[in-house]
Amino acid sequence: MFLVTGATGAIGRRVVRLLRQREMSVRAFVRLTSHYSELEHREAEIFIGDLQQEKDIYKACRGIQYIISTHGSGKNTLAVDYRANIELIDQAKANGVQHFVLISVLGVDRDYEDAPVFKAKRAVEQYLVTSGLNYTIFRPSGLASNLLPLAESFRRTGLYLLIGDRKSRTSIVSPDDLAKMVVDCVHIAAAQNQIFPVGGPDILMREDIPLILGRIFNREPIIINPPLLILDGLRSALGLFNPEEQQNLGTFRTLLANEFFCTPEEITNLESIFGFKLETVENFLSRHLAI
Ligand SMILES: NC(=O)c1ccc[n+]([C@@H]2O[C@H](COP(=O)([O-])OP(=O)(O)OC[C@H]3O[C@@H](n4cnc5c(N)ncnc54)[C@H](OP(=O)(O)O)[C@@H]3O)[C@@H](O)[C@H]2O)c1
Repeated sequence: MFLVTGATGAIGRRVVRLLRQREMSVRAFVRLTSHYSELEHREAEIFIGDLQQEKDIYKACRGIQYIISTHGSGKNTLAVDYRANIELIDQAKANGVQHFVLISVLGVDRDYEDAPVFKAKRAVEQYLVTSGLNYTIFRPSGLASNLLPLAESFRRTGLYLLIGDRKSRTSIVSPDDLAKMVVDCVHIAAAQNQIFPVGGPDILMREDIPLILGRIFNREPIIINPPLLILDGLRSALGLFNPEEQQNLGTFRTLLANEFFCTPEEITNLESIFGFKLETVENFLSRHLAI
């Protein structure tokens, strides 16, 4: 039995779908407020809980052989990105789990001081690597699914908001490809106890994205390109009445201010270990936008 946390998220939902397509038994950890009916229809076992509750994690891990941690907080970084993963790893050990898969983030090892999610993921990675469990850690760059809402708004308006450096490089990965690697890694010898940087096949500049959308929708993009200083100003103002939210925005700022891309060697390595060609952003978007 697989336990998937974040089962209603962009990655987790795809992981559950794939596991069920392969007729594997899956326990999907969801919140009462999550949209989980699709997972139920696919006959995943639904476990309703909150990852901020230790007792829920304890119960969810009973009788489990594989844990796939794909959840992410957005906000409660300490409780959800850090503490819940530490508790999952402890419970994995207590239950004799055969393999633990963790979704981390590209650049986690760069010691960004102003990025709570990166710090939490780094600490969890270190805890997992020294836990004695079999593990695979994926460090994705951005997910192509993040672009879908932006693409829908581009379809209507032709506008694309790009904060910061237009030339900054990124290698955005298809979450469908990532889900395949996540599911397959538990059976592939070369993926045991490994940390994989994960990106798409192309290194793009951020300004390439509106051009791709322009090609898909056959319209000239209008790029609105405020400098990063705008975000800094908004963040300082926010800090006057909501310091916690100001800190949370640090991760977002870090993502905008830095480059996150994989080398061609890293992509070739992924393709050879997992045995398939990674999909381009353009292909992913065209498939999902029904063009
Ligand atoms: N998106 C990216 O571009 C990107 C890039 C690199 C790394 N990552 C990492 O990849 C992972 C997955 O990202 P994603 O984009 O798939 O995430 P996502 O779509 O934002 O989904 C987050 C998932 O976590 C669940 N969750 C949050 N708090 C919870 C709680 N207290 N109890 C139970 N479940 C909770 C959410 O449940 P609800 O449905 O109830 O909200 C949802 O299923 C995250 O760890 C993220 O940091 C993402």
